[in-house]
Amino acid sequence: MQISVETSRETRPTDALVVFVPAGSSLPKAVQSLDTLLDGIISRAIESKEFNPSIGKTWSTMTLGRIPFPRLIVSGLGTDPITPGSIRQAAGQAAQAAKSVRAHSVTYDAPASHLADQEVSAALVEGALLGNWTFLGYHQEDPEPSSLTQITITGLTSPQDAAAGVEIGRVLAEAQNLTRDLGWRPSSALYPEKLADEAISLGKQFGFDVEVFDEVKLRELGMGGLLGVGQGSVFPPRLVVMRYNGGTSRTLALVGKGITFDSGGISLKPGAGMEEMKYDMLGAGAVLGAMCAIAQLKPSINVLGIMAIAQNMPSGSAYKPGDVVRAFNGKTIEITNTDAEGRVVLSDGVSYAVHLGADWIVEASTLTGAAVVVLGHQASCLVATNDDLANHVLNASEQASERVWRLPVYPEYRDLYKSDVADMKNSPGRDAGTITAGMIISEFAGTVPFAHLDIAGTAWTKPGPLNAKFGATGVMVRTFVTLAQNLS
Ligand code: BES
Ligand code: ZN
Ligand code: MN
Repeated sequence: MQISVETSRETRPTDALVVFVPAGSSLPKAVQSLDTLLDGIISRAIESKEFNPSIGKTWSTMTLGRIPFPRLIVSGLGTDPITPGSIRQAAGQAAQAAKSVRAHSVTYDAPASHLADQEVSAALVEGALLGNWTFLGYHQEDPEPSSLTQITITGLTSPQDAAAGVEIGRVLAEAQNLTRDLGWRPSSALYPEKLADEAISLGKQFGFDVEVFDEVKLRELGMGGLLGVGQGSVFPPRLVVMRYNGGTSRTLALVGKGITFDSGGISLKPGAGMEEMKYDMLGAGAVLGAMCAIAQLKPSINVLGIMAIAQNMPSGSAYKPGDVVRAFNGKTIEITNTDAEGRVVLSDGVSYAVHLGADWIVEASTLTGAAVVVLGHQASCLVATNDDLANHVLNASEQASERVWRLPVYPEYRDLYKSDVADMKNSPGRDAGTITAGMIISEFAGTVPFAHLDIAGTAWTKPGPLNAKFGATGVMVRTFVTLAQNLS
């Protein structure tokens, strides 16, 4: 993608011009003059209710030579105050509208707002690149050949600030698109070793250290959680440790669940929809995406990225209900359901983060169907044992416009996962399922402030009437990066 900043929108006309319109007020000045050139077509579309400029809605028209751009796309900003989040969303919708009319180049006329030029251009570029992205797939012939190749930003006063924003927007969008791509890939193409290889090559590309523990090393370290879950698959498990050095003494650890496929194991899942369980590595995917962005944006904080990676399969060698596994920190887990595998691999991932001296541990995982029951697909569940860290996560997620809702951690819930034969059991049952899952993982964080994000409902969306775009979302990449910046 070629991205440039121009002071005047007429310098280099593109296939389409994008302008932004808030709902419920008169047209912004820059749009008004355009409206006049087009005989009032924009205001008429709004008056006649053909176009409602709420957030996420676009309207487009051919311009028949009245302006130098053959196509105009109007993107709604809604009634709320203009924020980086609303600009990102409106820019993303406009990119999709541009693609649908086969535009290859677009000019974004930045909306007037109280925001700094850098913030505006970052949000515009991030939204455009997120909206333009699709998973390439494995078709013999590309079913959707048209795509944007050039974006121009105009309407901002400081070209330098705007250009700096372009870079930030690009870094953030590319990180999220990377996570999305990893999610979309089937487990035949993204098994544990492959995901670890991705980390190695991205570490080289963006300049962070990557260390990979194979099954031999995992045995040496006593990582019985990863080994137990992974032992049923011909693709052995991996622990990946990534390190970004921000030149300080404080370390934030990001830990992710990387189940490249979750069949449920011996406690086999029902067949319908099981293909979606290729997405069960998106916690790890978000950690990897965030590491790429962090290594480029360079906050002053050390960041550890840990991916606990395995494939959960039923087989003659698979772990079984009744088995007891011992995690890296020595604690034991009775397996009462092999499908509650995320917490089992994360026991090693989180206790290794403690071992490496993390000051905060934030972990993300597609952990429980119960999280989807609680909040649907609109927000991620937060289970945190430390209020201060919980508030940091909530603030970061709000800034990043990724919704997070905190659930309580009452001591009584601990009784639910007591085991007669081990320190805890992995599957306590339906009651408070998302909370007990998070609390089980927190047992491996010791005294380090710990927060767990259950992204089962938000890591991907299903095709449906409300989702023109579906599949992996890249959720938590933005929150992770923002959190690292806020803690630095
Ligand atoms: N990966 C699943 C959770 C999941 C289910 C995410 C559906 C997204 C959509 C996880 O490993 C799992 O199977 N969880 C079980 C836990 C139960 C056995 C305690 C669940 O939620 O049913
Ligand atoms: Zn799972
Ligand atoms: Mn499972």
